[in-house]
Amino acid sequence: MEIKILQFLLFLCMKLLVSGVGAAEFRCIERERQALLKIAESLTGDLSELTMGSEEDKENCCKWHGVGCGGTAHVTFLDLSGMHLRGKMSPALQELQHLNHLDLGDNYLTMDNLDWLSNVSSLSYLHLSGINLRTVTNWVRPISKLSSLEELYLSDITRFSSLQELYLSNNQLDGVQPQTLDQPSSLKILDLSYNQISGSLSDLRGFSSLKRLDLSGNQLKKLPKAIEKLFNLNFLNLSSTSLEGTITEHHLSNFTHLSELDLSFNNVSFNLSFDWIPPFQLKSVHFSHCNMGPHFPNWIRTQNSLTDLSLSFAGISDTLPNWLWNMSSIDYIDLSHNNISGGMPDLALKSFAFYDSVDLSYNNLSGSIFTLCPKVSIQNLILSHNQLEGELPDCWMNLQEELIVLNLAYNKFSGKLPPTLSTLEHLAILHLGNNNFTGELPSLKNFRELRKLDVGRNKLTGTIPAWIGHLKKLAVLSLRFNSFHGSIPPTICYLTNIYVLDLSRNNISGKIPQCLNNLTSLVRNCGSTMSEYYSFIDKVPSDEDDNAVVQWKGQDAEYKRLRNLKGIDLSSNKLVGTIPHAFSDLRALVFINLSRNHLVGNIISSIGQLDTLEWLDLSRNQLSGEIPNGLANLHFLSVLDLSYNNLTGKIPLSTQLQSFNSSAYAGNNQLCGDPLAECPHDPSVTDRGKVNVVEEDDGFMNRDFYICMAFGFITGFYVRDNNNLRDKIQEEIYILKVPLFGKKLMAGVVHKVLLI
Ligand SMILES: *[C@@H]1O[C@H](CO)[C@@H](O)[C@H](O)[C@H]1NC(C)=O
Ligand SMILES: *[C@@H]1O[C@H](CO)[C@@H](O)[C@H](O)[C@H]1NC(C)=O
Ligand SMILES: *[C@@H]1O[C@H](CO)[C@@H](O)[C@H](O)[C@H]1NC(C)=O
Ligand SMILES: *[C@@H]1O[C@H](CO)[C@@H](O)[C@H](O)[C@H]1NC(C)=O
Ligand SMILES: *[C@@H]1O[C@H](CO)[C@@H](O)[C@H](O)[C@H]1NC(C)=O
Ligand SMILES: *[C@@H]1O[C@H](CO)[C@@H](O)[C@H](O)[C@H]1NC(C)=O
Ligand SMILES: *[C@@H]1O[C@H](CO)[C@@H](O)[C@H](O)[C@H]1NC(C)=O
Ligand SMILES: *[C@@H]1O[C@H](CO)[C@@H](O)[C@H](O)[C@H]1NC(C)=O
Ligand SMILES: *[C@@H]1O[C@H](CO)[C@@H](O)[C@H](O)[C@H]1NC(C)=O
Ligand SMILES: *[C@@H]1O[C@H](CO)[C@@H](O)[C@H](O)[C@H]1NC(C)=O
Ligand SMILES: *[C@@H]1O[C@H](CO)[C@@H](O)[C@H](O)[C@H]1NC(C)=O
Ligand SMILES: *[C@@H]1O[C@H](CO)[C@@H](O)[C@H](O)[C@H]1NC(C)=O
Repeated sequence: MEIKILQFLLFLCMKLLVSGVGAAEFRCIERERQALLKIAESLTGDLSELTMGSEEDKENCCKWHGVGCGGTAHVTFLDLSGMHLRGKMSPALQELQHLNHLDLGDNYLTMDNLDWLSNVSSLSYLHLSGINLRTVTNWVRPISKLSSLEELYLSDITRFSSLQELYLSNNQLDGVQPQTLDQPSSLKILDLSYNQISGSLSDLRGFSSLKRLDLSGNQLKKLPKAIEKLFNLNFLNLSSTSLEGTITEHHLSNFTHLSELDLSFNNVSFNLSFDWIPPFQLKSVHFSHCNMGPHFPNWIRTQNSLTDLSLSFAGISDTLPNWLWNMSSIDYIDLSHNNISGGMPDLALKSFAFYDSVDLSYNNLSGSIFTLCPKVSIQNLILSHNQLEGELPDCWMNLQEELIVLNLAYNKFSGKLPPTLSTLEHLAILHLGNNNFTGELPSLKNFRELRKLDVGRNKLTGTIPAWIGHLKKLAVLSLRFNSFHGSIPPTICYLTNIYVLDLSRNNISGKIPQCLNNLTSLVRNCGSTMSEYYSFIDKVPSDEDDNAVVQWKGQDAEYKRLRNLKGIDLSSNKLVGTIPHAFSDLRALVFINLSRNHLVGNIISSIGQLDTLEWLDLSRNQLSGEIPNGLANLHFLSVLDLSYNNLTGKIPLSTQLQSFNSSAYAGNNQLCGDPLAECPHDPSVTDRGKVNVVEEDDGFMNRDFYICMAFGFITGFYVRDNNNLRDKIQEEIYILKVPLFGKKLMAGVVHKVLLI
C-alpha cells in the first residue's frame, strides 16, 4: 500500500521533471534567450519556427516553438527534432543550466565533440538520434556524466556498423521493434534479460548475425517467431520467460549452431520423438523446471560435446541410462528433484572420469553405492534424499583428490563410517545426517577446509573428539540426535568461525565450557567470518552451503538462509553446572537452547545484552533465583521457555515478557505475576502491551532507498576500443553495457533508435 503510494509519487515527480512544458506565462531569462539565439545562429534549417510569433513572443523565449520553461522561468525543455537542422551544435547550450529535456532527433548535426553536454547536468531526457555519433570523439564520456539521465535515445542502430555487443538487462524495456533496418546489424551479443518484453518481440530479421541472445526474465509466454530466424545463434537463454505449451522438433529445427540452450523455469512440455536427432550439438542443456519426463530424454545421447546437463525438477520418472555416464565430455550433472529409480550409476564408466558436480538428490535411487569405488575425480557429490542403503564402501581414497562436497544425508545407510573417509582432507561440506550410521566418528582432524559437518540423526557413539577444535573453518557443527557421551571438549572454543553449534539430544555430561566467548564469530554481529565462508562457496552448489537442519522453535527445520541464523543448541543432554557468563558476550546469537539438562544457578543477568536473540529455551533444568530484568529488553525475542525450573519471584513487567503464554513459565512453583497468578502482597497493576517488531519497516525503507538510488543515475557505460578500426575513427563504440536497475529507458520502441 505505502509502496504503491510512493511509486505513484515518484511517477508524478518524473512526469513533472520530464515535461516542464506549457509554462508559457513565464518571462524568459535574457541570458538563456541569448543562448538560444546563438544556437539558432550556428544551425541552418527550419529554424524560423523557433522564434515565430508576435513581437512580445519574440522577447519571451518561453513561448518559442519547441521551448518550455519551468516554474522558475528557466528553460527546461528544448525540442529541435524534425527541423532538418544542419551544422554544429553551439556550446552555448550549456547556458541552459536547468534544461532537463533535450530532443535533437531527426536532424543532420555534426559535431566534433559533445563535451559541453556534461555541463548540462540537469538533463533527464536526451534524444540524440539527430547526431551522427560516428563523427563524435568519445561521446559516451559526457553522456555517462549526466547523473540525472533517465531516458536516452541514440541513433539508428545500423549506424553503428561495428556495434557488436549490447547489454540492456534490468531495464524496463517493453519491446524491441526496429522497424526498418537499412543494413543488417553486426550485433553479435544482445542481452535483454530482465525487462518487460512480452509477446511483442516481433521482428529481429536484421539481427541475423546474432550469436548470443539473452531474453531471460521476460514475459514471452510463447516462443517468439522472431527468434526462429536467428540461424546463427549459439547461445539462447529463455529461462524464466513464462513460456507455456509444447515445444516440438519443429521449433528447434533452425538452430543448427546452438551450443547453449537455457529453457529452465518455464512450464513447457516437450513432444520429441524417441529417436529425434537434433540439428545442434549442445554444450550446455539447462532445462530445470521444464516438463521433460516421464522418460529420460533420449536425444541427449546425440550431444557429443555436452558438458553441462541440468534437468532438475523436470518430472522424470525413469531409470538412468548407462550411456549418460559414458559421455566423455560431461562434467556437470544436476538431475535432482525427479523420480529417478534404479541403482547408483558407475561414475567411472567413461575413460577419463572427471566431474565437477553430480547431483542426484531428491530421487528414488536404491541399493548400495559400491559403484563409487573405481577411481573418479569429482568435486561435488550430492546423493541426499534417496533410498540408498547398506554400509558405505571403504574406498574413499579414490575420491580424495578433488572431493569438496559429500552429501549422503536422508538415505538409509547403516553400519560404521569407514576409516578411509579420513582421507577426504579437502572436504568443505560433509553431510551424513539422517541415516542409521553406528559406531564412532572416524578422525577428521586433518580436514582443514571443512565448513560444515552434519552427522545429526544417526546412531553414532563415543565421545566428542578433541580434534573437532582443529577444524578451524567449521561454521556448522551438528552432532544432534546421536548417542555421543562424555563432556564437551574445551577445544570446542577454538572454533572461531562457528555459527551453528548443535550438540542436542545426546548423552553429553559435564559442564558447559566457560571459554565460549572465544567463539568470536558469535561475538560479533557482522564479522569477516561470513564473507570468508561465502566467498569460498562459489565452488559449491548454492543448495549445499547456506542451510542446516536445526531444531528451530521446537521443530526440525531446514534452514535455507543460514547467514541470518547463529545459535547454540545443547538441549536434551545431561549437562550440569551453571550457565557460563561467557554467554553474555555472544551478542550475535539468534537462538540458545539449553533445555532438558541439569543446569543450576541463576539465569545470567547479562542475558539482556543479547539483543538479536529471538529464541531462548532454558526449560526443564533446575535454574533458580529470579528472572533477570534484562530479559525484558530483548525486543526480538519471540519464543521463550523457562518452564520447569526452580525460578522464584515476580516475572518482570514489560511489554515483552507478558506477551508469552503462561506455559513459558509453568512448573516454577515460586514464580508469580502476569501471566501467572498475581504475587502475594503485590497489588501492582500490569501494563500488558503489544510488541512491535520493526523488521518489516526496515524492509520497506531499504526498498525505497534502492528505488531512489535507481532513479538517481545511469551507470556503467562501458566502451572498449577496437584496435582494427582505430586508425579510421578514434574511438568506435564496440560494446555498450547499460545495466540500469529499475530505470525507465524509453528504449528501442521507436524505429530511429539504438535500442536504448
Ligand atoms: C563546463 O563548465 C565549466 C565551468 O563552468 C567550464 O570550465 C568548462 O570549460 C565547461 N566545459 C565545457 C566542455 O565547456
Ligand atoms: C526455418 O527456416 C526456414 C527458412 O527460412 C523457414 O521457412 C522456417 O519457417 C523456419 N522454421 C521455423 C520453425 O521457424
Ligand atoms: C540464463 O539466464 C539466467 C537468468 O538471467 C541465468 O541465471 C542463467 O545462468 C543463464 N543461463 C546460462 C546458460 O547462462
Ligand atoms: C503448466 O501447464 C499445464 C498445462 O500445460 C497446466 O495444467 C498447469 O497448471 C501449469 N502449471 C503451472 C504451475 O502453471
Ligand atoms: C506429439 O507429436 C505427434 C506428431 O508429431 C502427435 O501425433 C502427438 O499427438 C503429439 N503428442 C502430444 C502429447 O502432443
Ligand atoms: C515414480 O516412479 C515409479 C516407478 O519407478 C512410479 O511407480 C511412481 O508412481 C512414480 N512416482 C511419481 C511421484 O511420479
Ligand atoms: C562406452 O563408450 C565406449 C566407447 O565409445 C564403448 O566402447 C562402450 O561400449 C560404451 N559403454 C557403454 C556401457 O555404453
Ligand atoms: C521408488 O521406487 C520404487 C520401485 O523401486 C517404487 O515402488 C516407489 O513407488 C518409488 N517411490 C516413489 C516415491 O516414487
Ligand atoms: C534405521 O533403522 C531402523 C531399524 O533398524 C529403522 O526402523 C529406521 O527406519 C532406520 N532409519 C533410517 C533413517 O533409515
Ligand atoms: C545415555 O546413557 C545412558 C547410560 O549412561 C544409557 O542408558 C542411555 O541409553 C543413553 N542414551 C542415549 C540416547 O544414548
Ligand atoms: C581463548 O582465547 C584466549 C585469547 O585468544 C586464549 O588465550 C585462550 O587460550 C583461549 N581459550 C580457549 C580454551 O580456547
Ligand atoms: C528445585 O525445587 C524442588 C522442589 O520444588 C527441589 O526438590 C529441588 O531440590 C530444587 N532444586 C534446586 C537445584 O534447588
